[in-house]
Amino acid sequence: MNEQRASTSVLVIGTGAAGLRAAIELAEQGVQVLCVGKRRRDDAHTVLASGGINAALATMDPEDTWQQHAADTLRESYWLADPRTVELLCREAPAAIDDLVRYGAQLAREDDGRLTQRYFGAHSYRRTCFAGDYTGREIQRTLVRRAAELGVAMRDDVYVTRLLVHDGRVFGAYGFDVEDGSRWVIVADAVVLAAGGHTRIWRRSSSRRDENTGDAMRLAAEAGCRLRDMELVQFHPTGMVFPEESAGMLVTEAVRGEGGILRNAGGERFMERYDPERLELSTRDRVALANYTEIAEGRGTEHGGVLLDISHIDRELVLRRLPRMYRQLLDLAMLDITRSPIEVAPTAHYSMGGVRVDPETHATDVEGLYAVGECATGVHGANRLGGNSLAECLVFGRIVGAEAARWSAELDVQVRDRVAIAVAREEVDDLLARRGQEFARPLQRAVRDLMSECAGVIRSQAGLREGLARLDDVAARAGAMEVRPDIAGYDDLAHAFDLQGSLLAARATLDCALKRRETRGAHNRIDFPEQDPELQVNLVWAGEGIVTREPIPRPSSEVAALARGPELDAAGRLLE
Ligand code: FUM
Repeated sequence: MNEQRASTSVLVIGTGAAGLRAAIELAEQGVQVLCVGKRRRDDAHTVLASGGINAALATMDPEDTWQQHAADTLRESYWLADPRTVELLCREAPAAIDDLVRYGAQLAREDDGRLTQRYFGAHSYRRTCFAGDYTGREIQRTLVRRAAELGVAMRDDVYVTRLLVHDGRVFGAYGFDVEDGSRWVIVADAVVLAAGGHTRIWRRSSSRRDENTGDAMRLAAEAGCRLRDMELVQFHPTGMVFPEESAGMLVTEAVRGEGGILRNAGGERFMERYDPERLELSTRDRVALANYTEIAEGRGTEHGGVLLDISHIDRELVLRRLPRMYRQLLDLAMLDITRSPIEVAPTAHYSMGGVRVDPETHATDVEGLYAVGECATGVHGANRLGGNSLAECLVFGRIVGAEAARWSAELDVQVRDRVAIAVAREEVDDLLARRGQEFARPLQRAVRDLMSECAGVIRSQAGLREGLARLDDVAARAGAMEVRPDIAGYDDLAHAFDLQGSLLAARATLDCALKRRETRGAHNRIDFPEQDPELQVNLVWAGEGIVTREPIPRPSSEVAALARGPELDAAGRLLE
């Protein structure tokens, strides 16, 4: 067996926006960094982020402030976001945009040169910067270019199977080359985990195959980290429903931000019933639940969606502001969105929970290990504001880069435990040697089916318990899983590890969802339709069935004052 060894000061796992921004900070500080990813860096999941990135720049609405941005974020999180993390995010977001512009990102501007900012749902002001509806792609392109300028070492083909830990301290990672199966032992002073969330474990998801499978959560949990709020998963209101092979793919919120209207099959503008003031720009959880309800109660379309219509908006504006949507719908559904409405339905979109981290440094429970981006938790609580995730990646990417640099500089002794390396090696050997009747793909499908049927937009105790029983069955079948790399490469081995990530992430999600016996934000318990003030806490998962409560501190008084307003409760939210 061919096993290569590499050594670096900081290892970054994941080459999306969060990982790259961390790597750039490290390189700018002159710290040696190696960045590895399981898919091509120019095609990381970040490229799918469409509509924009938030920062209170006040370019369009001079009254906007970072404090108001923080207040909006906290309030719409149903008070489950960590105020320390949110305040840091909102204070630092304008500097993150400055960095991006300095690196050469082409964001939309007004004729006088100001950055344009658009409305996204539930924001008090226009504060979402964008590059048409290719914002994530532009940011990814910019960060890849900047990292290359700085000479950041990067590999696109390494699948990390295990973090290497000795006595509660990380010292690197083990993995394999997806092309030829050769192994990698990478030793590092510090490790930054930036490997995404777990929304691909639902049948209808805005993530593509083989991304966001829960692998980051498994790596962290098996290294000794706790997970938090895994039940809090955002269903984006508008995923494609037709054609079937494109179902789940995102139809950006920017369509509504630019004036798109939702109607049911009877032509009714139904958001007038659910949120008469904010209508289509209500919070994501409300719009998602409204869409779900319309469909569930029989007012949906032929393919099981509702209609999102932008055909009344000037065609030139649509082509300029939403070029990707125009192309996507034409390419995939032969639909011209400047003439016809789009059929849409909720789609699993974002993991608001994830690896439990320090609210400011994003250090995890394992020394020297940091988590950032979608795999970490703290910013979004029970409902994420659109446009905050790209901001989170850039702000906390820079912060964890600086923290990892500091950790590396201050590290005196590090044990590179040969037993830990041997365990990681054997884990891969064992999977390759196993013979049986099962394969990863059908088992992944079984996980996605059970999560959709038992832990989707609407949940109940009976459904969640059924989900756990079905998950036990899939886990047992996975014991008879055969892995067969072939001349085309080691994708099959990657799928097997992805499945393990999905099994762990699904279990943590179901365990936490059972304990959150209330309805709050994206978590709708039909058997507990009210918010429970006792559950204004985070839920910490420390292994199968082990869930504890963690209190949340109060926000600063200036932010708390701006967050006042009608309390968000369950009224008007549930299936009628
Ligand atoms: O709808 C969107 O463009 C998604 C943005 C986001 O999730 O932040």
